[in-house]
Amino acid sequence: MQADVVVIGAGAAGLMCALTAGYAGRRVLVLDHANKPGKKILMSGGGRCNFTNLATGPANFFSANPHFCISALKRYRPEHFVELVERHGVEYVEKAPGQLFCAHSAKDLLGVLLAECEWAGVELRLKTTVERIERAGEGMRLATSAGRIEAGAVVIATGGLSIPTMGATGFGYDVARQFGLDVTQTRPALVPFTLTSQWKARAADLAGVSCDVAVSAIREGQRLGPGRQRCYREPMLFTHRGLSGPGMLQISSYWQPGDELEVDLLPGFDIADALAEARQAAPRRQLSTWLGERLPRRLAQALVEWHGEDPTLAELSNSRIEAWQERLGAWRLKPAGTEGWRTAEVTLGGVDTTAISSKDFSVEGLPQLRFIGEVLDVTGELGGYNFQWAWASGVACGQSL
Ligand code: FDA
Repeated sequence: MQADVVVIGAGAAGLMCALTAGYAGRRVLVLDHANKPGKKILMSGGGRCNFTNLATGPANFFSANPHFCISALKRYRPEHFVELVERHGVEYVEKAPGQLFCAHSAKDLLGVLLAECEWAGVELRLKTTVERIERAGEGMRLATSAGRIEAGAVVIATGGLSIPTMGATGFGYDVARQFGLDVTQTRPALVPFTLTSQWKARAADLAGVSCDVAVSAIREGQRLGPGRQRCYREPMLFTHRGLSGPGMLQISSYWQPGDELEVDLLPGFDIADALAEARQAAPRRQLSTWLGERLPRRLAQALVEWHGEDPTLAELSNSRIEAWQERLGAWRLKPAGTEGWRTAEVTLGGVDTTAISSKDFSVEGLPQLRFIGEVLDVTGELGGYNFQWAWASGVACGQSL
């Protein structure tokens, strides 16, 4: 079998690359070992796929080389993908500022990519495993479960390690190493935290309770997080195993074993001033009642139980107010770990970009081999950035094939 381009991985990046190269007149074959294409697209965004973020920029990505993503992101912007989605009449909603989701189902979005692949003449082969890849002169040769394939170029779009049950493998990293590329340390990110015994039980009691927080990671006294505030201000969710919700998923990309989390349960609120004022205005009110007006009731009740006191506001001395300010505004806890690859949305780290072209994603000295999407050491924050990276890297590579 022969093809101009073989794309390994029928996910977001692979399909986008394939249809772009197909429209450019290349004979494209996409191989995937899974029984269906785009499984992660279908499960993303709670089944509605947060397919881009209108504010995407290099600052939304983690990489040992923060400049690597700039070129592709500049050339294929969120508006370009929105134009594609609109052309297919897929309805979408902006659920949070800049975050675009399918209005109905992620199936609609996968339908767009598969239709475009078909129109571009792309051949898709599922349930196909690649046993060996080797250089063959100016091209590449593959041994697969569907036989031998001679290809002008091979694009590795096999994604990261998260959710192995959905077909994730370390295949792309093995190919990278085979051809002499480095792979930076990988770890699960955008992943919920697990807690140890006492805190685990407390979180489990509150499972399902959610509130807005500001959260940072603390390592050796240093605050870690994005921007000048070094924190994410997004909801936190208690779970049976620990803590989840967008705020926790976001900070997991900074967190490493041993780090603490610092959680402000009432962000943007001067707790000491407000408590002192309330002490004047309503001295007989219980602290739990005051808390329950600002936090979910179950959490308010749990807080006074954890700290073994539910005084009236009149009973709060200035030093007790300070203690409550600390407990509410700078709650410190040390997660036991994360839920790991089983539930992580993405992989931090991956194929080192040092020897990869940021223009066409080819390997230095081996232009017939390319790496795109999440398999690379480029990882976005939560909010549609990871798909935008998949589209942008797929298009940049596909245009150059
Ligand atoms: P992707 O993982 O999509 O595709 C890789 C493909 O390669 C798969 O089809 C796989 O079967 C195939 N493959 C792997 N190994 C192979 C092998 N050895 N041989 C052949 N084929 C192989 N992002 C975002 O921007 N917005 C969101 O809403 C979400 N939500 C979300 C939810 C959940 C639960 C997860 C797990 C992830 C997200 N993400 C997300 C992240 C997003 O899904 C992810 O970054 C992209 O799918 C990455 O696209 P790729 O094409 O690089 O890999």
